[in-house]
Amino acid sequence: MRRLNAFIAGTIVATGIAITATISYGADFASVKELCSNQWNNFQVIRSMSGLTAPTDEQFATYNKSAQAVVDAETVRQNKFNADKNHHNISAEVAFHAGEIVKAAQAKDQEEIQVQYRWLTISCKNCHRMYRTDEKLSP
Ligand code: HEC
Repeated sequence: MRRLNAFIAGTIVATGIAITATISYGADFASVKELCSNQWNNFQVIRSMSGLTAPTDEQFATYNKSAQAVVDAETVRQNKFNADKNHHNISAEVAFHAGEIVKAAQAKDQEEIQVQYRWLTISCKNCHRMYRTDEKLSP
């Protein structure tokens, strides 16, 4: 009986942890490499905005989704792969500018997306320059 209670308690705790993890992250990554290749895919979606023609509503929705995915992935980075304070701050910088793209895409503000995209590029690059100097990473 005691053993059964312990089992039930364990199951409840495990379920609780699983649910919390799903709610707080949305996405999870096994490694920084995996996380960053996902960032790269979403980064390219945002970059695909040419600036020559006004995006359609559907395109704004796509930029919104990709920028939100960048924010979510940086949250995972900060919780799971944090190296030190500077690393955390650079990641927060990336999340901030991606968050501004989310807002701009919702407001259908093409110019602001372009401005924030440039800041985003610099922010991604900052971490690669500081922590992966030898690898010629893009951005
Ligand atoms: C806080 C640090 C940090 C930030 C911010 C960061 N990266 Fe990275 N990135 C890394 C590290 C560390 C690696 C090397 C991973 C490895 O190979 O283990 C990497 C690797 C990469 C790679 C190569 C992946 C591969 O398959 O080898 C790409 C592409 C990349 N990052 C894109 C991005 C983009 C786009 C952003 C911004 C949206 C970004 N990164 C933001 C730290 C960061």
